[in-house]
Amino acid sequence: MRAYKINGGKKLEGTISAQSSKNSVLSMLAGAILTDDTVVIKNCPKISDVINMCKILSSLGASVEFDDNDLIINASQVNSFCVDEKLCKKIRTSIYFLGSLLGRFGRAKLCFPGGCNIGARPIDIHIKALSELGVKFDYNEKNISCSKQKTVGDREVVFSFPSVGATINLLLFSVINEGTLVIKNCAREPEVVDFCNFLNSMGAKIVGAGQSEITVYGVKQLHGTKYRPISDRMEIGTFIFATYCCGGKVNITNVNLKNSDLLLDKISNNTCSVAYINDIITITSNNIGEGFDVQTGPFPQFPTDLQAQATVYLSICNGRSIVIESMYENRFSHLNGLKQMGADVHVFKNVAFIQGVKRLQGAKVFANDLRGGAALTIAGLCARGQTLMCGVEHVERGYLDYDKKLAMLGASIKTIDL
Ligand code: UD1
Repeated sequence: MRAYKINGGKKLEGTISAQSSKNSVLSMLAGAILTDDTVVIKNCPKISDVINMCKILSSLGASVEFDDNDLIINASQVNSFCVDEKLCKKIRTSIYFLGSLLGRFGRAKLCFPGGCNIGARPIDIHIKALSELGVKFDYNEKNISCSKQKTVGDREVVFSFPSVGATINLLLFSVINEGTLVIKNCAREPEVVDFCNFLNSMGAKIVGAGQSEITVYGVKQLHGTKYRPISDRMEIGTFIFATYCCGGKVNITNVNLKNSDLLLDKISNNTCSVAYINDIITITSNNIGEGFDVQTGPFPQFPTDLQAQATVYLSICNGRSIVIESMYENRFSHLNGLKQMGADVHVFKNVAFIQGVKRLQGAKVFANDLRGGAALTIAGLCARGQTLMCGVEHVERGYLDYDKKLAMLGASIKTIDL
């Protein structure tokens, strides 16, 4: 196990560059097997989730290599529709190969996916929709085996919840097809829009991305592309809360988002500001502000992937805040560490009641998941004294050079082996 050794209390000052969106890239890696041509994902972060998806691609027969920061994939030699069990369990988005292998071969065999320890994360919505479209499933507790019985034709599916994963899987399944598919109550996240733009750059015809109804006009085949994904709004949001907590002024360059993607109204505060001009985000924080309430939900509601980081900030804000986690049942695990550091937090079911304290105190804390680890690191950065944030492996699933970027901003943070 590795840990971040942090000496808290330093302001954050300086400039860092944004990474591309983890969630966008993960869907694109599954999408790359829908063509025999070469797909280039520009500025692709070498994070462990990406590496694990690349291992799946290689095991299926694709050639996958980094050229500096660009990832080059050629799937012309992909000849298997079975995903290796061990690789499948390493990452949640292995489930995207359900849609992409069905799209390519009309068949797929994989096991139930692994991923973050944040809750049950069922895939019933994916399976129900694909079944309605004529996919025949055969599964037990471990494995899923399925095959497409016929071409989709002109159809519509209605999701019971706007699941990101189910939307991606349905897109992967239906872009190469003879009919038209309408997906109702689909996810509206900017990463879903980005994925649709990526597929369209490969020759797909997808209309309505970003709204709750997407129409996929099936095409005969897709071709290669060179595509630059959007910036990672979760990484940017993490640095926004880090700056809010520590004080200072941070610039994030190389940002290619729409203003509305950032949901700035949900994360701005009376004493901190975030400005987004051209491709630079500037965060300024002079004082700790008043607490506010947060309820997570599908886009454009407050993102669950920023809840842990927001909770750390609220724990040192003035007054009382309430955080409602509506998406995942295990997403408060960072609160154990936060309480050890002196936060005044009480949890009842999926609601955290927070009374702001003046200062957190350094401690040895353990990350249980990706965002929780990023959040406890922020807690260490603004705490008095030293913090050992154990479980860096979780953070490295989604953040490229998190420690190095924070150090560039003046934080005292070092990665050590325990
Ligand atoms: C994606 C993101 C993740 C983010 C989440 C919610 C990726 C790689 N991951 O995860 O970072 O936290 O969206 O914004 O993009 N659900 C079901 N049945 C299903 C599918 C989902 O009940 O078949 C539930 C889940 O348990 C969860 C909620 O729906 O409570 C949201 O899940 P979903 O939108 O599918 O999230 P993911 O695609 O797994």
